[in-house]
Amino acid sequence: MTNRNGAGSELEPSVGAGIMDRLDHMAEISESGDILTRRCYTREHRQINDLAGKWMREAGMAVREDPVGNMIGRYEGRKPNAPAIILGSHLDTVINAGRYDGSLGVLSAIDCVRSLNERGIRFDDAVEVACFADEEGVRFQSTYLGSRGMAGCFDQSLLNRKDSDGISLSEAMISFGLDPAHLKNAARDPSDVRCYLELHIEQGPVLEREQLPVCAVTAIAGASRMMVSMLGEAGHAGTVPMNTRQDALAAACECVLLVEDTAKRYDQAVGTVGQIAAFPGATNEIPGVASFSVDFRSSLDSVRQTAVSELQRDMSEIAERRDVDILIDKTHDADGATCSDWIIEQIEGAMTDLGHRPFRLASGAGHDAAAMASITDIGMIFVRCRGGISHSPEEAITREDAITGADLLLRTLERIGGAKN
Ligand code: GLV
Ligand code: MN
Ligand code: MN
Repeated sequence: MTNRNGAGSELEPSVGAGIMDRLDHMAEISESGDILTRRCYTREHRQINDLAGKWMREAGMAVREDPVGNMIGRYEGRKPNAPAIILGSHLDTVINAGRYDGSLGVLSAIDCVRSLNERGIRFDDAVEVACFADEEGVRFQSTYLGSRGMAGCFDQSLLNRKDSDGISLSEAMISFGLDPAHLKNAARDPSDVRCYLELHIEQGPVLEREQLPVCAVTAIAGASRMMVSMLGEAGHAGTVPMNTRQDALAAACECVLLVEDTAKRYDQAVGTVGQIAAFPGATNEIPGVASFSVDFRSSLDSVRQTAVSELQRDMSEIAERRDVDILIDKTHDADGATCSDWIIEQIEGAMTDLGHRPFRLASGAGHDAAAMASITDIGMIFVRCRGGISHSPEEAITREDAITGADLLLRTLERIGGAKN
């Protein structure tokens, strides 16, 4: 490995060296003692924002929290009020998460600015680090709350949506110290943003197979999510004859298999039921209500839209045949996004500088970059993760890959900051 002074691996590199320790530190901030869970607008979100804010100040940035709860650091450019190259990712996690999804991108970005500051480098453009409030959508079933706020496309109708404890998004924001009436002020004027760059773990197995630590991303798949409820008739498991039952869970199970079949019928689609619950939930009772989530994705928006409407039609047919009612609540829709060619070229140029074979990959997972694409050019870097495992405590990366990723982000940033396209 060559560090930024051109020296060999016996010296510490100028970026990335402290990231693994910081990731461990962040993983201690969790809603639950034994697993990592950090949902938006919780006490732990407050703690993680404060910690990221402290690290961003130490790295040389002016720090503020925006009206949607994103923590933002700004490293001024040579010109006053210059547009910003925004680096970022998210600080929220799924339930029982790994410690790299989101956090790695935030910490790599902070470390890049620290390195610029320590070396006295400033570009004409400012550099900002955005620590987004919610990318996973775990608490309110709608992803990208933070980045959509920044991109000016926050859906105000979500404010009444409730979490599993009956707390509305609006109430959660207020208890976090935000005023939902000011949400619009989180939106950035596109002319104040030069581009958005995000580093993230791959969350898939391709880089490991390619024996590459990093790559450039070409596009991010779109996603649709819904909560579906089957409303049947609860009854005694021993007395109600099989041919008169309105078993909500049996109907839901047919739908689960339908989600799988529908996704398989299309080339570039994936469909998942990740949550299911039956009520009243007793061994000797026919379920009267069953609710489940659907997450459906494709890199082609037209495929996703067609497949999702077929899915809704076919689930309704299952409900009708089984004599149960169906309620479909579409909780989230995000179109796919394409990374800008000029940024991909800069990432690949930086990969070549670092001695890595240029390589490109599309993302099946969602990222804040997809929301940012509505206001600016986007680019993404993927870092290899062990076995492609993610959204699990088994998520793992090596220290060496974390350093390579941060170094690639820094070199890409320097290319973009130093050279106008
Ligand atoms: C976010 O990680 C998603 O793709 O669900
Ligand atoms: Mn993520
Ligand atoms: Mn994730």
